[in-house]
Amino acid sequence: MKIIISLILLLLATATTITKSQGIPDNDPELCVQRIKREDCPETPSSWGKFDEDDVIDVYYLQAPIFEGMFGNFFGRLGGYHSAVGFYDITTGQNYTAEYDAYYEVGNGTLPNIIDVNGTKEILWCNAGILCSIPFVNETYWDPKYFSTASKTFMATINGTQLNQYIEWMESYNTTNPIYQTWDVWNNYGKDLYVPSTTCDDFTAASFDFLYTAGARYNCSTVFKRDYVNLFSEKPEPVVFTEHRDEIIRFYESLMDRSGSILDIIERIIGIVGLNKYLYYQGDYYLLKLNWPFMGVKYDYAPVAGCPLPETINEQTSNIIHMRNY
Ligand SMILES: *[C@@H]1O[C@H](CO)[C@@H](O)[C@H](O)[C@H]1NC(C)=O
Ligand SMILES: *[C@@H]1O[C@H](CO)[C@@H](O)[C@H](O)[C@H]1NC(C)=O
Ligand SMILES: *[C@@H]1O[C@H](CO)[C@@H](O)[C@H](O)[C@H]1NC(C)=O
Ligand SMILES: *[C@@H]1O[C@H](CO)[C@@H](O)[C@H](O)[C@H]1NC(C)=O
Ligand SMILES: *[C@@H]1O[C@H](CO)[C@@H](O)[C@H](O)[C@H]1NC(C)=O
Ligand SMILES: *[C@@H]1O[C@H](CO)[C@@H](O)[C@H](O)[C@H]1NC(C)=O
Ligand SMILES: *[C@@H]1O[C@H](CO)[C@@H](O)[C@H](O)[C@H]1NC(C)=O
Repeated sequence: MKIIISLILLLLATATTITKSQGIPDNDPELCVQRIKREDCPETPSSWGKFDEDDVIDVYYLQAPIFEGMFGNFFGRLGGYHSAVGFYDITTGQNYTAEYDAYYEVGNGTLPNIIDVNGTKEILWCNAGILCSIPFVNETYWDPKYFSTASKTFMATINGTQLNQYIEWMESYNTTNPIYQTWDVWNNYGKDLYVPSTTCDDFTAASFDFLYTAGARYNCSTVFKRDYVNLFSEKPEPVVFTEHRDEIIRFYESLMDRSGSILDIIERIIGIVGLNKYLYYQGDYYLLKLNWPFMGVKYDYAPVAGCPLPETINEQTSNIIHMRNY
């Protein structure tokens, strides 16, 4: 799950060194509490079994709004989307959903909690990410009949051999991506990706890329359109946590007011003069030095695997999957 507006930190140079810095451990199972147990993301994932090589399987891109009630009020209120891959085995009549999500919800995957430990403020990250793979497609959740902004887009037909390969791939994705990461960090937009985001959308996009390498072919009229919020920063400097502890806590406390849109929140934070801004990535904090104009929004088309990006996109004849919503 993620808010579809990706935030990209546009860096003028690439950070190189890494300084380990840590307060209390991330995703401490005693301190991190899942407020809502998701029935569609069981802790013990059910196996999809092995598919017959001749099975005919239709693959869909699934998108649905994030609900405040279901997913916590932070991103729910901002009108984000959740995405997944749906598999419909025409041969057996069974359906399957593969998705990746923040284990403690997107809000917790994005921002830490400031907690009181024996009278001292501590930073608690509950930012684990996890694969949810269920032998079921919730037709109510993904159906535009019930939620106008939901959508189901046919992507390709594959066979059982390809689905078996995909299952291995999605399990390895789960293993190699244990941390949810909301923001992309680039040193230069569209050039070098310094820190990739790891969200439901990234999983979904990577799924279609993998299926392409397994032989799936897509209709090139299908184009993704995504929004990016860019922050302009100098090379982020890794900092020693213990030296910046109070400043880092002050930064995250300023983010506790989560009212308004994501742009409102970012503008508010940027507007606080004298407040150091930080980025947390894989256990390390980085100091950001923002440059004028500090922030920009970009809308970009992303072709599906194996398709060129059309030079001119005809919004009437193309099948555009909009991820723009603010
Ligand atoms: C976010 O983490 C906090 C701290 O563990 C927890 O109390 C809260 O329930 C979590 N939120 C959700 C929506 O899981
Ligand atoms: C799978 O999806 C198809 C198409 O929506 C539906 O007809 C079928 O009943 C579903 N299968 C199961 C086992 O729910
Ligand atoms: C808090 O204080 C109690 C009593 O002194 C101690 O047992 C506990 O380990 C402390 N907790 C932390 C997280 O330091
Ligand atoms: C399917 O989605 C609907 C709408 O979000 C939800 O109310 C329902 O509990 C879900 N069903 C299952 C079995 O997950
Ligand atoms: C995904 O990884 C978690 C551990 O991070 C594990 O508990 C879970 O079973 C894995 N899911 C699948 C489908 O392999
Ligand atoms: C499944 O699809 C792959 C890729 O198109 C193809 O190489 C393979 O022969 C197919 N297998 C069967 C049993 O049709
Ligand atoms: C590809 O998608 C376009 C737009 O939705 C549609 O008009 C066209 O028929 C599709 N082509 C194939 C081969 O399905």
